[in-house]
Amino acid sequence: MGLKGRDLISIRDLSREEIEEILKASRRMIPYAEGQKAGHQLDDRLLVMAFFEPSTRTRLSFETAAQRLGARCVTIADPTASSMRKGESLHDTVRMLSSYGDAIILRHPNEGSGRLAAMASDKPVINAGDGAGQHPSQTLLDLATMQEAFGTLSGLRVVLLGDLKYGRTVHSLAHALAVFGAELVLSSPPTLGLPEEVREHLDQMGAKVTEVDQLHRAVRDADVLYVTRIQKERFGDEAEYSKVAGSYRIDNAVLAGGKPRMIVMHPLPRTGEIAPEVDGTTHAAYFRQAFLGVPVRMALLSLILTGKAV
Ligand code: CP
Repeated sequence: MGLKGRDLISIRDLSREEIEEILKASRRMIPYAEGQKAGHQLDDRLLVMAFFEPSTRTRLSFETAAQRLGARCVTIADPTASSMRKGESLHDTVRMLSSYGDAIILRHPNEGSGRLAAMASDKPVINAGDGAGQHPSQTLLDLATMQEAFGTLSGLRVVLLGDLKYGRTVHSLAHALAVFGAELVLSSPPTLGLPEEVREHLDQMGAKVTEVDQLHRAVRDADVLYVTRIQKERFGDEAEYSKVAGSYRIDNAVLAGGKPRMIVMHPLPRTGEIAPEVDGTTHAAYFRQAFLGVPVRMALLSLILTGKAV
């Protein structure tokens, strides 16, 4: 059916073929993302960036992607400066924003907000993170990073380490990795395991999933070590956060027990889970991962707004 005019709320909204189409287009977008080629695919388009939670990478890589392809953006980056602060509903906000721009990129603290926004909008909505729910465009750039490093996704052994309960990036990524036949290894503090719904969904897909509690065992056979931050902002109780804070840390000593070609990924921001000494090793893929957000979002925006990329 093609991606033109579609919403992207959950990674489950995309078929394997559609994900492959986006990843292929993303590779062709790299020279545009690097500024070596001038893009005009989105000339005269206006995008609304509605961010009601903090963001560095997602908002700015969407804005970079849009502007490098000729689009303009209007942005809510500070939720306290929008009229939602006066009590306006998300529904009314989104309905109105959809009459201003050609697409809405939404980040919001409530799980399910993306789906609600899509119902309120007559323009495409891209979910840029809904609470502890989903972050589908992050998954696309995560897949692009693994594909660039290994040339394939199938058969990779991917360790998902950290806060698997509240980490929306892993909720989306786990589904996509299962679609592509990767093997999943879950490693988290006992109270921060993958939500039951996500786990059941993976089981229904027939995904190969194991759990490992010791970090050195998780790292030993990994192709990808996907590290996440403990999502402090999702804890209702500071004391509960304190019990798990700092419970894992990746440094060069940990990596010495892994495969030479293993890559370390992180959606970022990191808050101590990866030691800075890792940055200088060939394992560190997280800054490249953050860059790939630009070509991936270029491809996504072009396909959704125009039906084609390059
Ligand atoms: N990966 C990610 O979502 O980063 P930001 O919160 O900075 O957008």
